Amino acid sequence: MIHIPKAEYSRRRKALMAQMEPNSIAILPAAAVAIRNRDVEHVYRQDSDFQYLSGFPEPQAVIVLMPGREHGEYVLFCRERNAERELWDGLRAGQEGAIRDYGADDAFPITDIDDILPGLIEGRDRVYSAMGSNPEFDRHLMDWINVIRSKAHLGAQPPNEFVALDHLLHDMRLYKSAAEVKVMREAARISAQAHIRAMQASRAGLYEYSLEAELDYEFRKGGAKMPAYGSIVAAGRNSCILHYQQNDALLRDGDLVLIDAGCEIDCYASDITRTWPVNGKFSAEQKAIYELVLAAQEAAFAEIAPNKHWNQAHEATVRVITTGLVKLGLLHGEVDELIASEAYKAFYMHRAGHWLGMDVHDVGEYKVGGEWRVLEVGMALTVEPGIYIAPDNQNVAKKWRGIGVRIEDDVVVTKSGCEILTGGVPKTVAEIEALMAQARTRAA
Ligand code: GLY
Ligand code: MN
Ligand code: MN
Repeated sequence: MIHIPKAEYSRRRKALMAQMEPNSIAILPAAAVAIRNRDVEHVYRQDSDFQYLSGFPEPQAVIVLMPGREHGEYVLFCRERNAERELWDGLRAGQEGAIRDYGADDAFPITDIDDILPGLIEGRDRVYSAMGSNPEFDRHLMDWINVIRSKAHLGAQPPNEFVALDHLLHDMRLYKSAAEVKVMREAARISAQAHIRAMQASRAGLYEYSLEAELDYEFRKGGAKMPAYGSIVAAGRNSCILHYQQNDALLRDGDLVLIDAGCEIDCYASDITRTWPVNGKFSAEQKAIYELVLAAQEAAFAEIAPNKHWNQAHEATVRVITTGLVKLGLLHGEVDELIASEAYKAFYMHRAGHWLGMDVHDVGEYKVGGEWRVLEVGMALTVEPGIYIAPDNQNVAKKWRGIGVRIEDDVVVTKSGCEILTGGVPKTVAEIEALMAQARTRAA
C-alpha cells in the first residue's frame, strides 16, 4: 500500500516549527468521532491538518508543538491502552506507540491534558491554533489559558498573542512533495479504474446506484477506505444538478450519465468526472457539447505551468465554451461581450477547478495581495469545465435541453507544465465509444 513515509511527518513538523515565532506553541486537536445515529458512528476520518503533521489515525488526541523545547518539541496527548476497550473497538497506539511509531518526543494520556497542558503553554508568548473552526476546542483552550491567568499572582505568565495556524500550515499543504504526488497518483489510478469499470457496466435499465456500486467496488479493492466525497452519479437531466447525490434514478437509453467520483488514499483525494452515453453511443447534440467541453479542458491544460496565474486556465475555458456556444446557436452575440456580461454562466456556472490534496477542495489561497496566485511546481489542482443545459431552458431548441457534461482531471504543476494524474480514463468520444462497445461484445 502506497502511503506517506513516517520521516515526512517529522520533516513537516520541523518545517512548521521553523516558521513559528520564537517562544511559541502550536496546539491541534484530532477530529472528533461523528455519530451517525444512536450507537452507530460515521467511518472515522482524521482531521487533515492533524493528519498532515502526525499521521496519527486515532480520535481523542492533541498535537502540541513547542519549537526549541529542550525536553522535546513534539508532545502528543492520546488515549491510553485499555484491554477492554481494545477488545470492543480495536487497538490503540497508547503513549508508548505514539513515541515508538509516530515520532512523538513525549506522550501523555488525553485524560491528563487539563493538568499538563497549561504548564506547557505557560511562559510561551504566542499560541497557534485553528481558531474558530472547532468551538469546543477553542473553549478548552481558553480554559487552559485561564488556569494560567488564575496563577498570575504567583508569577505565571499567560501568552498574550493568539494566532491562526491556518496561514502557515495551509500554505505548506498547497505545495505537494514527491511522496504526496506518489500517493495522489495512486488515488488517481484507482479512481480511473473505477470510472472505466462504471463505463463498461453502463446499460439502460440499470440505476444510477448500480454504477455507484461499480465505483465503490474498485475503490475498496484498491485499498481506499472511502470516497473522497459523496459520489455523483447523475443520469439524464440529473447531470444538470452540479452536486447531485441521490443516485437512485433509472438509466435510460439515449441519456448521458455524468459521474463525478474519486477515492481517497492515505487521506489524499482524487476527483474525476467523466460523462458518457448510457447506451455507449453519443447523439449528435451530446457529441457537440461533449467535444466543446473537451476542447475547453485542453485549452485549460495549456495554461497550467509555472509563472502562469491561477485564473488563466479558467479564462481559457470561458473563452472556448462561449465561442463554441455561439457557434452551436446556444448563445447569440459577440464573444467578448458575452464574456464581459457573463452570459456563459447560464451554461457554465462554476469555476474550472480548485486546489486538490488532503481535502478535495484543498486549502491554500487563490489570491495573494489581491492578485491571482502564480502557479508553482508541486501545486495540485483539478481542471473541470462543464456545460449544463437546464431541462427547462426555453431559450434553446428542445433537442439541447437536459444535456449536462463535465470532464474533470487532476494535475500537478511541473517545471514545464503539468502532469495529468488521471489520464488513465478514456476521454475522447472515440475512446469512450470503443471501450463501451468492447464491453458489450464481451458481455454478449
Ligand atoms: N467533486 C466536487 C468537485 O468536483 O469539485
Ligand atoms: Mn473537483
Ligand atoms: Mn469532482
